Amino acid sequence: MQEGLKRKDLLGLRFLTHKEIEILIETAFSMKEVLKRPIRKIPTLRGKTVCFMFFEPSTRTRSSFELAAKRLSADTLNISGSQSALLKGETVLDTLKNVDAMGIDAFVIRHVASGLPHFLSKYTDAAVINAGDGMNEHPTQALLDIMTIKERLGKLAGIKVLIAGDVRHSRVARSNIHGLLKMGAEVRLFGPPTLVPQEFESLGAKIYYDKKEALRDVDVVMGLRIQNERLKGSFFPTIREYRKFFAITPEDLEMLEKEPLVMHPGPVNWGVEMDFDIMKEKNNVILQQVTNGVAVRMSVLYHFISGERQDGEIGN
Ligand code: CP
Repeated sequence: MQEGLKRKDLLGLRFLTHKEIEILIETAFSMKEVLKRPIRKIPTLRGKTVCFMFFEPSTRTRSSFELAAKRLSADTLNISGSQSALLKGETVLDTLKNVDAMGIDAFVIRHVASGLPHFLSKYTDAAVINAGDGMNEHPTQALLDIMTIKERLGKLAGIKVLIAGDVRHSRVARSNIHGLLKMGAEVRLFGPPTLVPQEFESLGAKIYYDKKEALRDVDVVMGLRIQNERLKGSFFPTIREYRKFFAITPEDLEMLEKEPLVMHPGPVNWGVEMDFDIMKEKNNVILQQVTNGVAVRMSVLYHFISGERQDGEIGN
């Protein structure tokens, strides 16, 4: 088990160092071993309470965080937009303060507003974990992506990762750009210019508008969903046209000398950003990403709730 982290909150990968990302990933591999045991539960966070505040829909992130907390023996509490006093006009800040008054060790927050977890983190001594804020960051998604790449390829430094699709609206893209570059990978972006603006070059990524060029020599292709709920305006003429020029297809991969890993954070718009037959590719690791999501979120809860650990123990 690795040494601990000294941070209160996990707000984005832009704030973490190479070493901190490495610690979180190594701990996630240890947690994955726990998940292979006949009894997939350890007492590490017994007596701690994790509150999930999800104000945007989620399948993978919410379920895997909840499973992660339960596997670590923490108590859990759920606050949603549709079942809480937010419907009576209470603010998110007041909601957090009131729940915090009951004794919470970590808040896991998803919200449509970029920066909301940062804002709320100043009003609580509990750890605040960003589970996706608007178009800003989705740090645990990028951590599980990085873990999956490391697990499959054995390394991160020097590998070429292509992120393809609606980069503009993607918090997953932003977290992966920060995280992968810190781990020494090359990050390429591909899509229509309207969805892959030049500004992303300032983060250190390389931009491609030609699919063949973008795919040359890549080790990983990560598809991104067209985020219809965030599209305010016309970014491409039709879905049919988008699919023709920008979707990743088995034919694209067959042309390559080496077969790259195929990833997607989900949910996938099959037949739009990715051809359905990609499911048949043997290097498709989309469900392995989901599996690793539980281990990564166990690692995150362990490090951010337990505080700095020097004892090297995750519990039995
Ligand atoms: N990847 C991801 O964040 O999926 P959910 O929206 O289902 O949590």
